[in-house]
Amino acid sequence: MTWTEKYRPKFFDEIKGQKEAITKIKKFLENFEKGKKALLLHSSPGTGKTTLAYVLASEKNLEIFELNASDFRNREKIKEVLKPAIEQKSLRKKGKIILIDEVDGISKIEEGGLMELLNLIDYSSYPIIMTANNIWDRKLSSLRKKSEIVKLKELNYNEIKNVLTNILRKEKRFIEDDILTIIAVKAKGDLRAAINDLQSISNLDDVSFVKFDERNKETDIFNSLRQVFKGKPSEDFLQIFDSVNMPLDDIILWVEENIPKEYRGEELAKAYDLLSKVDVFKGRIHKQQYWRFFVYMNIFLSYGISASKNLEKIREGFTSYKKPSRILKIWLNNKKIEKKKSIAQKYAKYVHVGEKRALKEFPIIKQIIKSNPRIQSELKLDEQEIEYLNGE
Ligand SMILES: Nc1ncnc2c1ncn2[C@@H]1O[C@H](COP(=O)(O)OP(=O)(O)OP(=O)(O)O)[C@@H](O)[C@H]1O
Ligand SMILES: [Mg+2]
Repeated sequence: MTWTEKYRPKFFDEIKGQKEAITKIKKFLENFEKGKKALLLHSSPGTGKTTLAYVLASEKNLEIFELNASDFRNREKIKEVLKPAIEQKSLRKKGKIILIDEVDGISKIEEGGLMELLNLIDYSSYPIIMTANNIWDRKLSSLRKKSEIVKLKELNYNEIKNVLTNILRKEKRFIEDDILTIIAVKAKGDLRAAINDLQSISNLDDVSFVKFDERNKETDIFNSLRQVFKGKPSEDFLQIFDSVNMPLDDIILWVEENIPKEYRGEELAKAYDLLSKVDVFKGRIHKQQYWRFFVYMNIFLSYGISASKNLEKIREGFTSYKKPSRILKIWLNNKKIEKKKSIAQKYAKYVHVGEKRALKEFPIIKQIIKSNPRIQSELKLDEQEIEYLNGE
C-alpha cells in the first residue's frame, strides 16, 4: 500500500493546513438550501482536494455519487446520469454529495456535457462538489459563476515536514532531519510528492545521493551570498535564493550573520533596515497565512541587500561566510516559547483557567500532557507541539 493511501486523512483534523478551506466548506453545506448549489475546490496538486471531498462525506455521513469524465461524453449522457442523481428522493435515509473530481480535465469534446451540467446545477437537491487544479480556463468560466469557489492553500515546507515526521514515527523508521527538510522543500507544496519521495528513499540502504544534495546546499548558499554581497545587483538576483535548497527562514539567518563581514557604515545600516522589513513580512505571513508575501521577503533579501552596498566600490577577494549557529539557537528558542504558549493556551481554554495561570503551572502541566497521549489528542495538540513536549 502506498503511504499516500495508507495515511490519507479520514477526519477533518488530519487534513493539514486547510483550516480556512474546511470552515468555508462547512459553511457551504450549512447554507446549501439558500445558497449556491455547487462548490469548486481548487489548488495545486497534492494539497488535499480529493481527500477533503471524501472526508466531508464521511464526517457528515453522506454518500458520494461520483461522476467521471466519460459521463460527460455528450449532453444526453450527462442528463441520463446526473438528472436522477440530483432529484430528491423522499425515502432516502442518507444524504449525499455529487463529486466531480478534476473537472478541469474535461476536454473540449466533452464540453457539451459541461453545458448540460450548467443547466442542471441550479435544480440539484444535493451539493455538487468539484475539484480542479486550474479554474481559470475559459471553458470553466460559467461554472465559476455558478459555484462557490474555495481555494486550498499550498502547504509550506514546515507543514509538509511535520506530516513526513509523523509518518516515519508510525512506520518506526528513521531518516535524518536534514534529509526530511530537503524532501519537504523540494516538494514545493505538493504533499503527495513529498510522501512518495519519502517512501521511496525509506527503502534504500544508501541515501548518499541525498547527502550529496545536502553538500550542494552549503556551496549554493555560499555562492549566492557571494553574488549578493559582492556582485552588481541585477534582476537575476530575484531568483538567486530559489536555487538554494534551504527554507527562507534559514537563508535570512545566513544573510543576517554575514552582512557585517562585507558591509561597513551606511551600507550596514541600509542592509539591516531591509532585514527588518523582511521580518515584518515574515510576521504578516504567519499572522495572515498569506504566503505570497514570500515574494517580497525574497526581493528584499536578494536584490535589496545587494543594492544596499556602495556600488562605486567593487568588492574583491574571498570572504569566508559563517554558518548562523548562534542566531539559529535563539530562533529555535523563540520557537520553543511559541510552542509552550500555544500548548498553555489550549490547556487553559479546555479546563477554563486563565492563560497566565496555565503558563505558571506549565512545568507540571507539561509532564501530565507529555505522559498522556489521550490528553494530547483531547487538547488537539498538533505535531509540532507534541514534538516540543517530547523533546523537552
Ligand atoms: N492537506 C493535507 N493533509 C494531509 N494529507 C494530505 C493533504 N494533502 C494531501 N495529502 C496527502 O497526499 C495525498 C494526495 O492528496 P489528494 O489526492 O487529496 O490531493 P489533490 O489536491 O486532490 O491533488 P490533485 O490536484 O493532484 O488531484 C493524500 O492521500 C494524502 O496522503
Ligand atoms: Mg485530486
